[in-house]
Amino acid sequence: MAIYIYEAKDLFHWLSTGVDMVVLDVRNAKDFARFQVESPRPFTLVNISYFDFIEDEEEAVARVPRNRAVRIVCAKENSARYVAEILDRHGFEVGYLQDGISSWGNLLVPRPVGRGTDYELFQFIRPGKASCSYGLVSGKEMMLFDPSRNLDFYLEFAAQQGCMVTKTFETHLQADYIAGSRDIARQTGAIFYANDGDFKTSNNPYTPLRDGETLRFGLGGPDVRAMFTPGHTPGSTSYLIDERFLLSGDTVFIDSVGRPDLGGKAEEWAVMLYETIRAVKRLDPNLQVLPGHYIDWREANEDLVFSRSLGGILERNRAIYEIDNPATFVAFIQANMRPQPEEYATIRLVNANLREEEQVRQEELDLGKNECAASAYAKAQQPRSA
Ligand SMILES: [Fe+2]
Repeated sequence: MAIYIYEAKDLFHWLSTGVDMVVLDVRNAKDFARFQVESPRPFTLVNISYFDFIEDEEEAVARVPRNRAVRIVCAKENSARYVAEILDRHGFEVGYLQDGISSWGNLLVPRPVGRGTDYELFQFIRPGKASCSYGLVSGKEMMLFDPSRNLDFYLEFAAQQGCMVTKTFETHLQADYIAGSRDIARQTGAIFYANDGDFKTSNNPYTPLRDGETLRFGLGGPDVRAMFTPGHTPGSTSYLIDERFLLSGDTVFIDSVGRPDLGGKAEEWAVMLYETIRAVKRLDPNLQVLPGHYIDWREANEDLVFSRSLGGILERNRAIYEIDNPATFVAFIQANMRPQPEEYATIRLVNANLREEEQVRQEELDLGKNECAASAYAKAQQPRSA
């Protein structure tokens, strides 16, 4: 049988539509534990190291489930191809992922999340990071929110919509992935907006936002209002679109809230987050919240979109939102604190443009699931080896 090569977007399509198959990850157990393919639906994921196939081919092949298509994933592509050739000889229907796991890590899946008379809003889900960026299209303009470094995707998407990227916004100085706004602004001439609270000490050519400031398209389109929501970081900012959608960055998640302990000032930032949460509770409960991250695919709605009403979120996170004094909130945060990945310090410096890293190193830094949520539920999601 012919071996075929597939792309990350094919893999996501098969996983999200429930195609019966085995995903065979041939990276070593340590890399596998740190980061692996996740799916909106249950699926069979097997980890058998490439070295096991070299050492004892028959024994390794015997561990691969039979009678189902096998989709192989590896670090860079070569070892997956090697194992694909072995499995092909043993009669499996087999394919391997082009460009390895980093192509999965960088994949963006666009989903429409809402529209008005003269605009459309898209969520770009990044399954490998469990994060979401957003695109707001009106007329021939597109505004981006929290783009990742996969610039080609955004530029192609804008071209398909017949748009130019004119503004790009960051919700905060990201610690868990390399942000794309600086490069997008440089390539397209878009204005890069961010909050002084996080960016003042950075070396980014950004335009500072004012709390409550309204940003607009050149011609018509919805209002975009910046709402400062400090806590996850001091400069965390949410964006209210058309008074209907709340792009909440890493402040309000569908499950949990953004952890305020990443900057080494857990108590101080937790108090800020407590005040922000009080302000969030006063907003219109019908607002559709669009978060910057999710913890698990179970948070997605039936259309596989990460969006819920604010009222629904307050209800499902009552344990957090009903805390009625800062001391109890700080205690809750402290009880759920956990170490952050070592890479976060470097990623912050790269995002602040205070450190340059080669593309290959950026790719490594950028791989892996986010750890931005504060609650015990998020804590329980961590791989056991972490
Ligand atoms: Fe964050």
